[in-house]
Amino acid sequence: SSLQMYVDELPQIPKLFAYTMVNGVPRLANLTIGMYETTWKFHRDLPATTVFAYGASAANATVPGPTIEAIQNVPTYVTWQNFLPQSHILPWDPTIPTAIPKNGGVPTVVHLHGGINPPQSDGHALAWFTANFNETGPTWTQQTYTYPNTQHAGNLWYHDHAVGLTRVNLLAGLIGPYIIRNVSLDARLNLPLGPMFDQVLMIFDRSFNTDGSLYINSTGVNPSIHPQWQPEYFGDAVIVNGKAWPYLQVQRRKYRFRIINTSNARYYRLSLTNNLTFTQIGSDGSYLPNPVTTPTILLGPSEGADAVVDFSMTAANETILTNDAPYPYPGGNPVDQLNSKVMKFIIQPGAPSQTDNSHVPPKLKTYPVASNAIGMANATRYITLYEYLTPAGTSTHLYINGLRFEDPVTETPRVGTTEIWEVINLTGDNHPFHMHLAAFQAVKIQQLVDLAGFTSCMTQLNDAISCNITGHATGPLVDVPLTERTWKNVVKMAPGYMTTLVVQFFVVDDAYSLYPFDATAEPGYVYHCHILDHEDNAMIRPMKLVH
Ligand code: C2O
Ligand code: CU
Repeated sequence: SSLQMYVDELPQIPKLFAYTMVNGVPRLANLTIGMYETTWKFHRDLPATTVFAYGASAANATVPGPTIEAIQNVPTYVTWQNFLPQSHILPWDPTIPTAIPKNGGVPTVVHLHGGINPPQSDGHALAWFTANFNETGPTWTQQTYTYPNTQHAGNLWYHDHAVGLTRVNLLAGLIGPYIIRNVSLDARLNLPLGPMFDQVLMIFDRSFNTDGSLYINSTGVNPSIHPQWQPEYFGDAVIVNGKAWPYLQVQRRKYRFRIINTSNARYYRLSLTNNLTFTQIGSDGSYLPNPVTTPTILLGPSEGADAVVDFSMTAANETILTNDAPYPYPGGNPVDQLNSKVMKFIIQPGAPSQTDNSHVPPKLKTYPVASNAIGMANATRYITLYEYLTPAGTSTHLYINGLRFEDPVTETPRVGTTEIWEVINLTGDNHPFHMHLAAFQAVKIQQLVDLAGFTSCMTQLNDAISCNITGHATGPLVDVPLTERTWKNVVKMAPGYMTTLVVQFFVVDDAYSLYPFDATAEPGYVYHCHILDHEDNAMIRPMKLVH
């Protein structure tokens, strides 16, 4: 594509407030959000693109969808409605486990990513529904979802989760931000605040045909097995908040950016030109204990970083947000001209319109320390990531623990406990490992020695203990990055390494008792790789909490 960069302004994502103010007190609200087929202009010079988009109404449907702003400990009810047409706008693949309604329509189900929510409101992959709830999947129970918001204040996002269609439903546009705010914490931290100085940046890559339509391959890498499926979607245009390579006019002061990588498969290693750095204050839905100043931020798909940028720290009048992450990550193609650029900030000359009184405090928020929880762990599980290849080396599918999604549940943690999950990556690529409900963090990342021997044993026995995992996980250690030492909902798994996760089922902030729910209810939860093309075929497993 020959689209010019930095010609469209960064759009302001519409906001939906997930509460109503009654006598100055925020109270529970009911939201209704629809999914519509509509058109969206991704670039000045690109014809309008047919998309699927979330909105409070058809006329207000946007890509990404509206930012839902919730208040911590004030629950939100959302009725998600499907107004999508009879057929999908993108090619899909019926040979992978897929929601296929008998009477047509596009199956959808919404998951609040990073949310600590009741199972019936979690957006289980089989709880899908078509337009007007005409047809529903096997685990569908209710139209209106409850989000208690009793978790850490922080950044979440919502997106589609229909089994086998997640990659194409998100590609079509079904994504949106969700912020849980704690007003007194905001005031105490005194970080940049307000719609201008506190913004979400949702970054994703897309390819377009010349008529403006979204491009995704219609033929698979192994078409005799899977006619359409390919292991990773990479687009050549980088989109932020719905525009390709946009620009934003900024003042010479601090800004807070809640950055979320909502790409199907692309990792971004972000930097700023002209010597600007990021002060990272949060990762996924949690704050870091202390801010970390860093020249780069590496985000896998679905991962988030909350960062402050101080544009007064350069004399230059612009800075480019760049990306240099190979794709697939880490051993794939180097970035090219197009996907090496994300957006431009145009820094206005002179002093800001008002004095910048915000600052980044040296201490942000203290949560329970993960390493202290290791001794209290209730169970240790070994979770192995596999990719199955043809003799020619092309991917046919990916599994967790060698099991299909539809195989019986094997992960049944007890509510309220801590577990150790040892995630063993036997594939050649990094995978963003995501769990619903749980909050977790990596405490150790260690290379496996004799990977070939361990892999061939695992391929036969699928049992890490019998294959002597402790004899193999003895290679060099890699530090857990300072920017990821908090309670996360997605952690990057390096190939050939075992990553030790401390997992809490589940972490709430202060007020869970305000809105307790039964996490052991049907249909339970899932955990999966968040490369959506992997998740769909079928790096996803059920998870059922028990008492
Ligand atoms: Cu963001 Cu199960 O996904
Ligand atoms: Cu993966």
